[in-house]
Amino acid sequence: MKSLKDYSDKAQKEGWAIGHFNFSNSELLKAIIEAAKKLKSPVILGTSEGESKSLGLKQAVFMINSYRKETGLPIFLNLDHGKSFGYIKKAVDAGYDSVHFDGSDLSLFENIKITKKVVEYAHKKKVLVEGEVGFIKGSSEILKKAPQIKKEDLTDPKEAEKFVKETKVDRLAVNIGTFHGMRASGRNPHINLKRLKEIRERLGEMPLVLHGGSGTPKEDIKTSLKLGVANIHINTELRVAYTEALRQILKQKLKETTPYKYMPQVIEAVQKVVENKIRLFGSENKL
Ligand code: G3H
Ligand code: ZN
Repeated sequence: MKSLKDYSDKAQKEGWAIGHFNFSNSELLKAIIEAAKKLKSPVILGTSEGESKSLGLKQAVFMINSYRKETGLPIFLNLDHGKSFGYIKKAVDAGYDSVHFDGSDLSLFENIKITKKVVEYAHKKKVLVEGEVGFIKGSSEILKKAPQIKKEDLTDPKEAEKFVKETKVDRLAVNIGTFHGMRASGRNPHINLKRLKEIRERLGEMPLVLHGGSGTPKEDIKTSLKLGVANIHINTELRVAYTEALRQILKQKLKETTPYKYMPQVIEAVQKVVENKIRLFGSENKL
């Protein structure tokens, strides 16, 4: 099987992106895997620190390995928004394929210092590293008030260049105007394509990562694929699809108490969202 690095580099060169879908239970995971299987797409399965604590790091690795073995699909596990070297080390040791160190709220100096330490440790164990420059606001839920993104919040292309040169990360998450979570309307602001172009010009073929993908306008996503975005993170839309479907089905079947009888509808709702994203990102038939 080709590695995640092969797929990221290939996606970057060919102008498509691998979806990074977060999960925190077996139903969400199943929905993502089913979509990937149906559309013959590589996928990254992500767990934030919170999601991985709920599942267990080792248990998440076991689940992914078992699906990988059974399906033969290129599915990769990433620790999303790891905030400390200590927790990232635990994820690497547990068998994650990739780790994201998010030091974007630190000074550039501190961010580079810790990211370098992460890269040194992870690469020795053949684990990839995603770094981040430019803090991305919000959290993966329906937001009462959307955060305001100012120009100075966006990733500075010169800082990104320095960061990549010094840390040797495998993928770089950048702030190009998105935020975590979604407005109640489901629409998020446009991507700052001008800034994305400037970053791309400085970083060449580095696969860029777009966070806060939920609700981002389709046309912006399509353009970003031509400008080096090779990996897109989606969480809120999956959480919303899961929760709304579950709420509805439980309301309809007030007497039903057997989870495996009502969960298929929930899985189907999440799968549909993932399939639409895979098509939008152009990763269908890219095994
Ligand atoms: O790291 C996770 C993602 O950036 C998810 O963002 O919840 O807006 O889709 P989202
Ligand atoms: Zn994120």
